[in-house]
Amino acid sequence: MTAQLDASPLMPANPAPDGVTPVSHTASDAQTRAPAAASPVGVFDSGLGGLSVLRAVRAQLPGESLIYVADSAYAPYGERDDDFIADRTLAIGEWLVAQGAKVLVVACNTATAQSIALVRERLPIPLVGVEPGVKPAASQSITRVAGVLATQVTLRSARFQDLLERYAGDCRFLCQPGHGLVQAIERCDVGSPELRKLLESYLQPMLDAGADTLVLGCTHYPFLDATIREIVGDRLTLIDTSVAVARQLERVLDQNGLRASGGADAAPLPRFCFTGDGAHLQQVASTLLQIEAPVERVNIPSRRTATLVAHVA
Ligand code: DGL
Repeated sequence: MTAQLDASPLMPANPAPDGVTPVSHTASDAQTRAPAAASPVGVFDSGLGGLSVLRAVRAQLPGESLIYVADSAYAPYGERDDDFIADRTLAIGEWLVAQGAKVLVVACNTATAQSIALVRERLPIPLVGVEPGVKPAASQSITRVAGVLATQVTLRSARFQDLLERYAGDCRFLCQPGHGLVQAIERCDVGSPELRKLLESYLQPMLDAGADTLVLGCTHYPFLDATIREIVGDRLTLIDTSVAVARQLERVLDQNGLRASGGADAAPLPRFCFTGDGAHLQQVASTLLQIEAPVERVNIPSRRTATLVAHVA
């Protein structure tokens, strides 16, 4: 994708009066069904970024049913505080369990870095997280200088620091918070002149320092690959872990006897859910994934927001 996506909103297949399909659920029905192989895989992100992971999952595991949640009411997570992210990740995980999800893919580096350990303890299903590809970058870099673009929360997390300690070796990692990038992608801007300028300001210092590898440490960023390519040409090898995440999901399904038995023909279209604005979700699914599926608005209150609402009332 080299240009800004058409931002005109698309309508769901069965629009409600406000143009979305409102569905309200609470986490209180969670854990009522034992998941089986035919159950869906839950995939979640703060917004549209996890669609890059969903794309890889569909390619690797075409027989799986998928439910995707974009927490668009609260995106971006990348500059939120830790409790907020843990609260949202848990609330969405519980909601997906209530929908019958057999495995949860936390398709968000920020939520994984900050809260996967806590959420793993609380949910009754296996979890698969994503993390920046420090290990592949360190093994591929020839100049031994690599850049990492990720959110502020991911970069400052203990989990990311631990990744660097374990795998960086003699490779120098230049860590750059991608301020403004998630917001642009959520607006479906993947190539405007302003965005390009912002990206140049992040990438040029990496090139100047001799980097030959760039870790895309946020699941939104693969949607910028064409614009990044226009800026850096073939001077940087881009590391995107979405295919590795899909393979890890395959292993987890197999280990737990949860792999769907049918092929692509047996799998329904993914169920796309959003908590805030869903027009762009449908647009990106259609443009980048070539999936024409309706989107549903869902209400997933978290403990913290429920408390805030009660307080205001
Ligand atoms: N896709 C999320 C990630 O991988 C974006 C975080 C955000 O919402 O800022 O980190």
